[in-house]
Amino acid sequence: MEPVKGLILSGGKGTRLRPITHTSAKQLVPVANKPVLFYGIESMAAAGIIEIGIIIAPETGDEIRAAAGDGSRFGVAISYIEQDAPLGLAHAVLTAERFIGSSPFVMYLGDNLLRDGISELVDAFRSEAPDALILLTSVPDPEHYGVAELDGGGRVARLVEKPKQPKSDLALVGVYMFTTAVFEAARAISPSWRGELEITDAIQHLLDTGLRVDPHVVRGWWKDTGQVQDMLDANRLILEDLAERVEGELHDSRIEGRVVIEPGVRLERATVRGPAVIGAGSRITDAYIGPYTAIGDDVEIARAEIEHSIVMSGSSLIDLEGRIEASLIGRNVRVGRSPGLPKAYRFVVGDNAEIAIL
Ligand code: DAU
Repeated sequence: MEPVKGLILSGGKGTRLRPITHTSAKQLVPVANKPVLFYGIESMAAAGIIEIGIIIAPETGDEIRAAAGDGSRFGVAISYIEQDAPLGLAHAVLTAERFIGSSPFVMYLGDNLLRDGISELVDAFRSEAPDALILLTSVPDPEHYGVAELDGGGRVARLVEKPKQPKSDLALVGVYMFTTAVFEAARAISPSWRGELEITDAIQHLLDTGLRVDPHVVRGWWKDTGQVQDMLDANRLILEDLAERVEGELHDSRIEGRVVIEPGVRLERATVRGPAVIGAGSRITDAYIGPYTAIGDDVEIARAEIEHSIVMSGSSLIDLEGRIEASLIGRNVRVGRSPGLPKAYRFVVGDNAEIAIL
């Protein structure tokens, strides 16, 4: 078999992660201080895939290019493929046809995270040589995903994208393996009710034309990080496996449990209870950082408490009463207290933001 190529989909609009995605690609939101997209690239590298194409949107493409570069630091070669508009996952596949050529390929949705990577899957695809291989997992809310029905023999009988009345709880995970047969299938289908060329319909077309689509059930956890709560969950799951490393300076401070403190961090009269990570150059003073929290680079937290949250680089949280939790705070955000009267909340907040005050 020809070497397997990789295709990562990092286009799209990211509407469910606004306002963060007004200014930044959703695939670059950090999970445990690493962009979601990098987990996908690393799992491809670990599976021995060297040539990777990344689908980018015109609006966020430059930022993704700047972040992932030519791939050399991951030990892979990355090509960027611009998709004019987010017309669906099968449309993205067609956009990449020239890059893929005659190779079999893994397609990986750039906002997905799979704990156990894809090596086992790539090996199964190589040894069993089906026309396509899909990954499935049981979920409590299948109506939000592509859903697979299996027949009595465990073969794929039918696939439906986000059905109102799902016939099974098996969701399609955003990692697929294809042969070039998928291009014909993607050309044969029509746009769905949401105006997209659905990869789910293209795979159904493979089945309808008698081709072999093998299902593979995921064992470790899987997360589609499309929404804020999913991001926080993914952050928690990745932090669960954190290896402790303390490089910054501690003054009258305590760390408990597994914690990563990057170089240049200064903790003063602070408590950090892991699993948690604090990015390079951050200053934490008279503060509490609780479990499942990822603080980016150059963040300042003073006289404040936070847990179970993501704070991106360059932000500051200063002089806050009460504890912040389950929050996703973007880049260069300032949250603070203004002195003097009248005592009032004062906000300068972008479109579609969400603020909850008790
Ligand atoms: O996460 C798994 C689910 O992913 C599957 O269960 C569904 O069957 C599949 O359709 C997909 O559903 P989503 O609605 O979550 O897909 P989303 O629009 O979030 O796009 C997934 C990724 O692909 C995301 O990183 C953006 C990128 N994308 C999306 C579209 C529509 C593109 O690069 N180009 C596109 O045209």
